[in-house]
Amino acid sequence: MEHEQTLSPTPQKRVFIKTYGCQMNVYDSDRMADALAPHGYAPTGDIAQADLVLLNTCHIREKASEKVFSELGRLKELQGERRALGGDMMIGVAGCVAQAEGEEIARRAPVVDLVFGPQAYHRLPDMLQRAEGQRHLHPALKRAVVDTDFPEEDKFAHLPAAKKDVTVARGLTAFLTVQEGCDKFCSFCVVPYTRGAEVSRPVHQVLDEARRLVEAGVKEITLLGQNVNAYHGVDAAGRSVGLGELAYLLAEMSGLERLRYTTSHPRDMDDALIAAHRDLPLLMPYLHLPVQSGSDRILKMMNRKHTGADYRALIERIKTARPDMALSGDFIVGFPGETDQDFEDTLAIIRDVGYASAYSFKYSTRPGTPGANLGDQVAEEVKTERLYRLQELVTNQTNDFHASCVGRTLPVLIERLGRMPGQVGGRSPYLQAVHLEGSADLIGSIQMVEIIGTSTNSLVGRLALAAAA
Ligand code: 5AD
Ligand code: SF4
Repeated sequence: MEHEQTLSPTPQKRVFIKTYGCQMNVYDSDRMADALAPHGYAPTGDIAQADLVLLNTCHIREKASEKVFSELGRLKELQGERRALGGDMMIGVAGCVAQAEGEEIARRAPVVDLVFGPQAYHRLPDMLQRAEGQRHLHPALKRAVVDTDFPEEDKFAHLPAAKKDVTVARGLTAFLTVQEGCDKFCSFCVVPYTRGAEVSRPVHQVLDEARRLVEAGVKEITLLGQNVNAYHGVDAAGRSVGLGELAYLLAEMSGLERLRYTTSHPRDMDDALIAAHRDLPLLMPYLHLPVQSGSDRILKMMNRKHTGADYRALIERIKTARPDMALSGDFIVGFPGETDQDFEDTLAIIRDVGYASAYSFKYSTRPGTPGANLGDQVAEEVKTERLYRLQELVTNQTNDFHASCVGRTLPVLIERLGRMPGQVGGRSPYLQAVHLEGSADLIGSIQMVEIIGTSTNSLVGRLALAAAA
């Protein structure tokens, strides 16, 4: 009976969401799943079983969008196989490639039923219904539903919250997007175009969502934003609240043990946020603070609006507030016009700062960005060689950082069973994976763990109590 179906929306359809790119997309994919749940879609990890496949795409570098088109080729085959068995598979492209190339995707890949940008996720059920309405049409008449508008309404206010059991199943750590978009316009970057202008979620919305997460057992929240430390949400009194103040508010939430945030811009590391690192034990001492290059000439061409010296001085201030702060960064090699000396300046800043981890990329021209109009491109083999040298330096620093933790006793949030029987795994305050002997009942607790060794990209520890016994 139709009536009963509405009352108990037993999932009858399966959605497979493949996520590319940054953590904001990871968060968005969960929210898309939440938006679809009331409409009878349950997530599946098996793409062959999916009635709906959504690719949540990334446009940050060239290869990212090429990957999407080759994935669509594979999906077309899978769709054919499902149809041969009497089923079907709808295909949607979401995320930043969808935002940037909406109509182009629909034209180039007719297999796609829906194309929609990050600001339209709350409209997904409606778009899906419209796309389903086209299924009976002859392929020549079918047109993908495309939605790449930046709507007036607040997307977050319209997205349903996850059911408590869904949040519980997602684990002890959670992402929470507090800010989207970017007004910085670094000359290499597509984000200001794909994600639009900076928008911060109101304080009450953030606190409500955080509370729901904590009530479902989440112990650690990572606040997300393309430019998260530019957060300026309004509170109930209409006041603008920065990320530092938001951290103090979240610190009062009982049950929330750890707080992180990413990604930050050096120019938005204000005094209040630095003070929060000094004052709040729940704010973890690990900061992703990209500098991109160590050369002032290149930083200027990148429109970063800070120098290498500004960045170094900022790191000093942060370390004064929180001496054990571990740093992570992003670097681009081969920006147009980058000379050997510019690159040496980048290596120098890496040596001076000392990173616990870092992500590094060869510059790739993004159409529509100011960087795309610059001449003097760096040869591919030069970029390759520079990237190799930079990564070698950073890998050594990461290994040194891990080694420096041996002998220390660190609080570890135990998150899961380990790879070996009798083992559990978790994270140190510095975001390092830690493995130790321990039973499943430790999961969800923070334990003092003596670090006794390192393994590839992780630490090996033992319960400090056990060590003392
Ligand atoms: N080419 C290479 N790397 C880029 N990034 C952003 N745009 C580009 C580009 N056009 C890198 C930056 C940024 C990270 C998310 O991706 O380092 O911090
Ligand atoms: Fe892109 Fe720069 Fe904005 Fe980061 S700060 S999202 S690199 S434009």
